[in-house]
Amino acid sequence: MVKVKVPEEDDQADAGTKFTGLSKEELLQVAGTPAWVRTRWALLILFWLGWLGMLAGAIVIIVQAPRCKELPPQEWWHKGGVYRIQPLDAFQDSDADGVGDLAGVQQHMDYLSSLKVQGLVIGPIHVNAPDNLAGTNLTAVDPQFGTSEMFTQLLNAAKKKGLKVILDLTPNYRGQMLWFNSETPHNIEFQAKMKEALEFWLKSGVAGIQLEGVEHLNDSELLAEWKNLTSQHSSDDNARVLIAGMGQQDSLQIFSLLNETSADLLTSAYLVGLGPEPTGEKMDNAIRAYIQAAGEKWPCWSVGGPQVGHMASLVKERLLRLYHMLLFTLPGTPFTNYGDEIGLLDKNNTPHMRWNDSANFGFSSKMPLQGGDSNSSITVKAQSDEPSSLLSLFRRLSELRGKERSLLHGEFLILPRTESGVFVYLRSWDQNKRFLVALNFAGTRSTIRISHSLLPPQATVELSTDSQRQEGQLSLKDLTLEPSEGLLLHFPYVA
Ligand SMILES: *[C@@H]1O[C@H](CO)[C@@H](O)[C@H](O)[C@H]1NC(C)=O
Ligand SMILES: *[C@@H]1O[C@H](CO)[C@@H](O)[C@H](O)[C@H]1NC(C)=O
Ligand SMILES: *[C@@H]1O[C@H](CO)[C@@H](O)[C@H](O)[C@H]1NC(C)=O
Ligand SMILES: *[C@@H]1O[C@H](CO)[C@@H](O)[C@H](O)[C@H]1NC(C)=O
Ligand SMILES: *[C@@H]1O[C@H](CO)[C@@H](O)[C@H](O)[C@H]1NC(C)=O
Ligand SMILES: *[C@@H]1O[C@H](CO)[C@@H](O)[C@H](O)[C@H]1NC(C)=O
Repeated sequence: MVKVKVPEEDDQADAGTKFTGLSKEELLQVAGTPAWVRTRWALLILFWLGWLGMLAGAIVIIVQAPRCKELPPQEWWHKGGVYRIQPLDAFQDSDADGVGDLAGVQQHMDYLSSLKVQGLVIGPIHVNAPDNLAGTNLTAVDPQFGTSEMFTQLLNAAKKKGLKVILDLTPNYRGQMLWFNSETPHNIEFQAKMKEALEFWLKSGVAGIQLEGVEHLNDSELLAEWKNLTSQHSSDDNARVLIAGMGQQDSLQIFSLLNETSADLLTSAYLVGLGPEPTGEKMDNAIRAYIQAAGEKWPCWSVGGPQVGHMASLVKERLLRLYHMLLFTLPGTPFTNYGDEIGLLDKNNTPHMRWNDSANFGFSSKMPLQGGDSNSSITVKAQSDEPSSLLSLFRRLSELRGKERSLLHGEFLILPRTESGVFVYLRSWDQNKRFLVALNFAGTRSTIRISHSLLPPQATVELSTDSQRQEGQLSLKDLTLEPSEGLLLHFPYVA
């Protein structure tokens, strides 16, 4: 046992010399002496001088700091990708009838949100007896797809995830011609129906309307009127978009429509028109021409769509990743056809979305639906947890597109090519992180030299389509790209 000595109270009291501080009277006496008064004044003045000094310093820093460029006004459809669930039949069947439906889309809201896109295009979903105007009701939901309540539920579920829903209202989507015939658009009764339908859906809460085959309208007045309607239903915090689509590949026709359209966005098969395996040079020229033709119009980029098919069927497989990198780094809005993020292929008809390795790849529990090929790496499940998959690349590109200012609204500068196979461009906004994109369309390895007054000698790898590519810095003087490699590099702004 250790004995602990506890000091007793008596001991302390006995000490007597213990310091108990000054009494109030003593304190006042000392504080009143001239020396202390002077000291107090000095300290007070020092305090205020210091404070004013800091204030002046802050003002100098603010005044001298380089001005940030004013951000351009951007609506939500400028801020990232748009994902098309078209036709709705093909995405997810929720009631085992073999037809994709509204509830099926709602079931995958987490997945759709993980793609980091801004909006979803859904539909058409209205009642359409093929080529029969009288049997077409633009405001009624086709029972195959669900009910109008289900559509409202879907809108709410999307809203919770911050996703906008755009409804495709192309009238005769089940028929031979999207607009019935060349006379229909001029029909007054039809025009009234369209107007009523647009108002109906805009009031129901859709964030926009899409119309396909606008080249058949032959009437720019109609689109202008519909654009007026979407504008009337827009407010500062709830802007509605009008998207016009054309299946056309011919660049002259596309450019003339682009020039006159009143729609906010015009999608077309422009890039598909370049063929399955364009050279870097051809791509370079095509992009230049489009951007020049677009003028002040905001461009849209896509390879494939509801009218033309899936990307993997339109371009060479070795270029799939490269194309995704292109679409997400060009100035404009990238459009993705459902399934293009996993490399879905068109077979004889519209392919169903492939979710996992269950029967019908998880699309429908109705048995049997379709044979399909057995490549099980083309499913969402197989690619979700695989860092080197197409889906993982897509998600990273989409995320960067939505958050990096240089990609959101940066300037676009095509750099001189030293190799005909490689397309190189720069995206930069003010003092933000800048991006250099080098796309090797050739099937062979290429070494290029990139030099420009805006570029540093080295840049850092942000992303590559080649999963073997190491992280780190690369010299721009001799940059070696693997066959079909797309490389996204970044470097900081230096004053
Ligand atoms: C179209 O469908 C809506 C909703 O089901 C219905 O109220 C309306 O009467 C229909 N219009 C015609 C012309 O059948
Ligand atoms: C489209 O309009 C032009 C002139 O406005 C006319 O010459 C042409 O015949 C029209 N085409 C169709 C299919 O209506
Ligand atoms: C669209 O609205 C503008 C102004 O609100 C008006 O001047 C124009 O005539 C309208 N155009 C159509 C086709 O309705
Ligand atoms: C459309 O093209 C015409 C003729 O080339 C041109 O004068 C006009 O400015 C263009 N309009 C737009 C909106 O670019
Ligand atoms: C496959 O996907 C479908 C649709 O998402 C789902 O209903 C099904 O449970 C999934 N199967 C497996 C084994 O995960
Ligand atoms: C399956 O698809 C992947 C990705 O598109 C491809 O790399 C692979 O070669 C395909 N496998 C077969 C057996 O077709």
